[in-house]
Order: sequence, then C-alpha cells, then structure tokens
Amino acid sequence: MYSGLDPHGGVLINRQVPATEPAPWQEKTHATPILTLSERALADVEMIATGGLSPLTGFMGERDYRAVVETMHLANGLPWTIPITLGVSEAVAEGLSPGLWVRLQNPAGQLVGVMELQEIYRPNQEREAEKVYKTTETAHPGVQAMYEQGPVYLGGPIWVWQLPPPPFPQYHLPPEKSRQIFRERGWRTVVGFQTRNPIHRAHEYIQKCALEIVDGLFLHPLVGATKSDDIPAPVRMRCYEVMLAHYFPPERVVLGVNPAAMRYAGPREAIFHAIVRKNYGCTHFIVGRDHAGVGNYYGTYEAQEIFREFDPQALGITPLFFEHAFYCRRTQGMATSKTSPSPPEERIHLSGTKVRELLRRGEAPPPEFSRPEVAAILVAAMRESTGA
Ligand code: ADX
Repeated sequence: MYSGLDPHGGVLINRQVPATEPAPWQEKTHATPILTLSERALADVEMIATGGLSPLTGFMGERDYRAVVETMHLANGLPWTIPITLGVSEAVAEGLSPGLWVRLQNPAGQLVGVMELQEIYRPNQEREAEKVYKTTETAHPGVQAMYEQGPVYLGGPIWVWQLPPPPFPQYHLPPEKSRQIFRERGWRTVVGFQTRNPIHRAHEYIQKCALEIVDGLFLHPLVGATKSDDIPAPVRMRCYEVMLAHYFPPERVVLGVNPAAMRYAGPREAIFHAIVRKNYGCTHFIVGRDHAGVGNYYGTYEAQEIFREFDPQALGITPLFFEHAFYCRRTQGMATSKTSPSPPEERIHLSGTKVRELLRRGEAPPPEFSRPEVAAILVAAMRESTGA
C-alpha cells in the first residue's frame, strides 16, 4: 500500500483555522495594520496554508532568506531553492514594526488571515536576482515579479481562515487530499508532472514513459500567475480534460491544479517544483528539457544537472529526467535522441512561439505535435480571444 512519502521536513503543515472559531489573535488584530496581498502573494499564502510549501509556516525571515539565496538550503539545512518572501514598498513598511500582528486581505478587500510580523528587512534584490534567476535583467518575468513585490520584506508565521474560492473546484486537491487519493488507489509510487503549457505529444510521451515505471501519474498543471503570453489556465484545463477522456486510462491518472505562481527560475525552480510535489505526496518528479525556463536564460538540461548538487536523501523525491522529445518520421513515433538515430529534418517539434504563431493565423498545430482534439480547443480559444 502507498503509505505516503514524508512531506519535506517531516510534517505536513496546516495553517488554516476555521473561520467560525474565535481565535485569540483576532482580538489582538482588530486594530492592527492591514496589508493587501498581490495575486502572487495570495498564491503563496494558499500554498503555505495548505502545506504545499511544508515546512514553511509563513514568509521567510532574513536567516532563511539568505541561506536560500546563498546555499539553496534553509537555515536548518533542508534543501530549498526559491525565497518565499512578502515584499512591500518603503511607504507601507514605514507604518509597520516587528511584534505587530498584520491582517492580510485579498485584492478584493476580504480578510484572508493574519501574520505575526517577526522581522522587517531590506534584501539585496540584485543579489537575489543573480543567484536565483541567474540574471538581473527585468526582461526576465521572474526578476520583474521579484522587484514588483517591493524592496522591503516581511517575515513571520501566518494563520489563514479564508482561502480564495478554487478556480477549478473539481480539480482542487490540496496536499492532504491528493495524498488521501493516492493512498485510496493503493499507489506505492506516484510521479508528479509540472506544466504551464497546453499538453502536447512530447508531454504525453514523457508522462507515459514515466508511468511505465511507477504506479500512478499526478498531472499537476500550475494555474497561478504566468506571463501574459502563456495560454490561460482554463484553456489548458480543457485540453487536459479531452486528453484524459481519450488517451489515458483513468485509473492511472489524477488531475489536480497547483495554485502557485510561476517564477521561471529554471534549474532552481525545478528543485522547488520537486519539493512541492513531494508535499503533495509524489515519490517521483518529471524534469524534461528546459524545465521552468524562459527565453535563453538557462541551458537545455541545466534543470536536470542541478539535482547533482543535492543529497538525494535530503531531497526525498526522485527526479526522472527526459531528453528533448519529438515526433520521429523515421521510427514513426515519439522519440528522443537516446532512442532514435534520425537526423533533424526527420524530427517534428514546434516551439511555443511557433505554436502561438500558427494559432494566431487560425491554423492547427500538426497531429505529430498536438492531438487533434487539443489542437481544436487551442484554435477555438485563439479565435475567441481575438474575436476572429
Ligand atoms: S514548464 O515551465 O512548466 O517546465 P512546460 O509546461 O512546457 O513548461 O513543461 C512541462 C514539463 O515537460 C517540464 O518538465 C519540461 O521540461 C518538459 N518538456 C516540455 N516539452 C518537452 C519536450 N519536447 N521534451 C522533453 N521534455 C519536455
């Protein structure tokens, strides 16, 4: 039986308190400052509250922050590669001091929870950009989002009583739920798949190669903030639904959404993505070509190579690496250069940019690249969005 992998740090964190329960801090906080969270910060709050970011119980203080930026580990030595920080402007920081309880509200002005403000610190964001994103260019969407938070970081634990309503209720599977489902299905091994793009045949191929060696597949598309030219989450979810209806055995696959925002931090984000899926109950995690990359900031296999820098025991989830997959005319199937000797002209793979170009012209990507049912959804969605 699947016994559930230990979450990162050993305990699945839960920072949710029932809204009906009068909590002692509610009294303390009714006259304290209110902070309005950005969409990204709200996604982090949800991830922390539900245990997706175990062992974090709140936003990082300076010790953890520095340790993560400099050493890719938390101050206690656990692997961790992406700073989870709550940034504010100087003006907002002026009204705050350590020891205060801060009420957190969503962009619509509803109270979400509270933070015990333990630390206020000024990070070296240029250093953070260099170490985490390997560039200080604000053309990089992750670097840009980091600067947009503001230059002052707030650290401390949070308690949450109202999470945002799930955008895809039937696929809302916080870690406790996904773990329960894996247990119920009797899966001893589960491979997690991160994605922010519509499913194409190379995705399907590496998912199925992985599924050949484990018990179950956890499709875990990220539906938090992505860059503006990425395909919107509702369209991507429709693609998944049609794929599951036609091309996957339902008893081997679970589809759940990941509410986190995308950072596009390439190698560092691959480690982070793996740790998050460990918290959701996965034993294995797929890392293909240019995982979580953007533009030309990272090498094709850098997100795989970085795993060598970590103690596999401490990481606690096994990565499964895949080379660049394509449709191969010679072997008449999906392949990689590990499995086919074909020259480039016999290989069909389209970049995201190329696919967007095709769609803008109202053309469907070829069946060697996309299943026809998925191609039809993408063409229709593009038509709707352009009003064509
Ligand atoms: S990502 O930003 O979430 O990594 P995407 O949704 O395109 O982007 O990729 C999801 C996963 O599939 C990642 O592990 C990525 O490396 C992998 N992947 C995407 N396309 C290919 C491909 N053609 N060959 C091998 N792996 C791929």
